[in-house]
Amino acid sequence: MHETLLLFGATGDLAQRYLFQSLLNLLRDRLLPPGFRVYAIARQDLGTDGFRATLGERLAKSGAPAADITEMLSRCEYLNVDLADPQLVAERLGFLHGRDCVSYLSTPPSLYVPITQGLKAAGLLDAPSRLVLEKPIGRDLASARTIMAAVGECVSEDRVFRIDHYLGKAPVQNLLALRFGNALLEAVWHHRWIASVDIMVAETDGVDGREGYYANYGALRDMVQNHILQLLCLIAMEPPSALDADSVRNEKLKVLRALRPMTAERINHDSVRGVYQAGVVGGKPVVGFKAPTPEAEDCETYVALVAHIDNWRWAGVPFRLRTGKRMADRCSEVVITFRDTSHWIFEQPSREKSTPNRLVFRLQPEENIELTLMSSLAAPEWGALELQPLPLDLSMPINLRRRIAYERLLLDAFHGNPALFVRNDEVEAAWTWIDSVADAWKQAGTPLQPYMAGSWGPEAAVSIAPEGSIGGRRRGRNGGGA
Ligand code: BG6
Repeated sequence: MHETLLLFGATGDLAQRYLFQSLLNLLRDRLLPPGFRVYAIARQDLGTDGFRATLGERLAKSGAPAADITEMLSRCEYLNVDLADPQLVAERLGFLHGRDCVSYLSTPPSLYVPITQGLKAAGLLDAPSRLVLEKPIGRDLASARTIMAAVGECVSEDRVFRIDHYLGKAPVQNLLALRFGNALLEAVWHHRWIASVDIMVAETDGVDGREGYYANYGALRDMVQNHILQLLCLIAMEPPSALDADSVRNEKLKVLRALRPMTAERINHDSVRGVYQAGVVGGKPVVGFKAPTPEAEDCETYVALVAHIDNWRWAGVPFRLRTGKRMADRCSEVVITFRDTSHWIFEQPSREKSTPNRLVFRLQPEENIELTLMSSLAAPEWGALELQPLPLDLSMPINLRRRIAYERLLLDAFHGNPALFVRNDEVEAAWTWIDSVADAWKQAGTPLQPYMAGSWGPEAAVSIAPEGSIGGRRRGRNGGGA
């Protein structure tokens, strides 16, 4: 297990909010080696004392015991480096040469190449050292390829760990367990029995404070290119023959490559883009999205898309993908809607009004699985059988401590286990499809539809969230748009 972490972008939002907290949790649980050290690297001129003071305050807010925080801080040293200059990176970090390092790049992707080149020049990417890259890698296929080619010259693919933190979430891994551990689901998992799949990731948070990054990406590139497509892969992939990294990644890749490219002719039927306006979220008034520059005004904070996977298993099954910021509620759900029964013999309700079986995987904030079956709840003496949807709620044990997704992924990177990381060709295949969407939007001039913060997205997205689907159910419960 590697003992030295070089954390680039250590003063950034991700590192401060999640990465150090995850390391603290791992230290507390004695999951890191005794010699574990973090070199926290960023541009700011802070010094180790200044950095420890800021980080200490942040960690204290989590309620962690003071002794654990002190131990964590004692393992951190801060180095300020101009990350855009490979030579300076190499000079500043050269003293670490000879150690087996994990270098984690939690910086804008524009810095990946200079940092990687600096690391290589300092000998810090020699085997068995590893490189961890945060998403997004590039902004489209061409820029991703440029970055990956340059990175590939410095370190071999088997030592590049591309993080998608959704893959570190326990309920997301549970999708694999449920799909491949249950004969019941194996038998019905294809277009003959499944009518549609909905994947929704709704957030109540806005973009606040991250406009500089976000405005250049938007919901399509920030969420769909990675997290949502990874969820789609886990739902749609063929059973891998084993759970090793390449068996799983080979199957995910086939799904990404089978995604039907979006076209300018279809895009306005099959997608909606939105941007949130001022509104009320969680009882508090919030401002609308403000683009930091005039060029960034076309940035979507909501996207709904209908994707199709052109293969035998999924022919004709729409995958409705939705994600948005400043929505009515925080929820991530995958809903599998089954086809109607082959022959309907009941009067009440009529076939048209019956509710199809649904399997709902709720990933966050709470984690549970719900299966909706039709059942008769009326006593026989009351007359004719009347069927009603009966939800079977399979909640996860609540006494398990939920780990931050990054805890699992950091540990895997220290151990060198790539199974939950994304391979180069997956990233390329995902960008290929995302580029088809972005190009189609451009050609068709797909407009941004405003939605009120605290709603379920633009009204226009109702067509992509029909009644009974995830947005439809939510609409019924809480009002608002899609
Ligand atoms: C990140 C995105 O990758 O995922 C953010 O950049 C988003 O915009 C976040 O808020 C959502 O992650 P989670 O774990 O809170 O669902």
